[in-house]
Amino acid sequence: MRTFTQISALRTYLRGLRLEGKEIGFVPTMGALHEGHLSLVQRAARDCDLVVLSIYVNPRQFGPNEDFEAYPRDLQRDLQMASSAGVDAVLIPTNEEMYPNGYQTVVQLPELGSLLDGTHRPGHFDGVATVVCKLLNIVQPDRAFFGQKDYQQLRVIEQMVLDLNLPCKIVMAPTVRAEDGLALSSRNSYLNDKERLAATVIHRSLCAVVELTVRGEKRPKVLEECMREILETEPLLKLQYATIATPETLQPAPEEGLERMVALVAAHVGRTRLIDNEVLVAETRFKDLS
Ligand code: PAF
Repeated sequence: MRTFTQISALRTYLRGLRLEGKEIGFVPTMGALHEGHLSLVQRAARDCDLVVLSIYVNPRQFGPNEDFEAYPRDLQRDLQMASSAGVDAVLIPTNEEMYPNGYQTVVQLPELGSLLDGTHRPGHFDGVATVVCKLLNIVQPDRAFFGQKDYQQLRVIEQMVLDLNLPCKIVMAPTVRAEDGLALSSRNSYLNDKERLAATVIHRSLCAVVELTVRGEKRPKVLEECMREILETEPLLKLQYATIATPETLQPAPEEGLERMVALVAAHVGRTRLIDNEVLVAETRFKDLS
């Protein structure tokens, strides 16, 4: 596995491989790798000839009172995991490489970027869209891989790629979960034992609405009420939102519901902010009976 801290060196390396006709898969990360990241690497290795992974804790996507300083960092462990998972090249850029003196440009999606997490973390998606746009321009991959856990991030990136005509296919891979259902996240390491247990209520609330939609229920009000009732049973959890949205726009789903919707939750458990989601597909067999 090759590691690069300089963008120009990575570009030179990739140029040769591209000329040989190799398809490049890209997995952008902020490090603190876990099974969720490795599943993206595996998918990239399956779909492409070569896998590039980036490790960069992007300061521009953290708010002033967020966990930029505390964000887990263990480069040696990450490099070992990446190498065992079959990554071919890792980019570990410095802040100076990414945002040199005089840097100005921001990529902003005023609609998708300002809803939900955008409301609770103002500016977050400007930071994400900007860094992902830069990384896609640096690596120029054929495909880039993102986890469903960060559903809004994925929609922001898909829309940006469409709007800016970036020649890259965005691939969504399923959320990887612990045995008790908690979505894997680098931030789970902040949770103590009690909080870790409490956090499982998020997935239970999502499973309940999946179950309801499978039984034919698709009224967002009913589904949201169901999620809230379950989430409110957990005293350690401070809910930010539990909502049923239109999968493409992330606007609230219409009153009568849709065949396909997405249930999204964000909450604090202790000082840790967690997000999760499930795509809901209404069961049409039951619709015929009503
Ligand atoms: O999901 C993440 O880890 C980050 O938001 C990303 C996509 C690597 C951009 O910094």
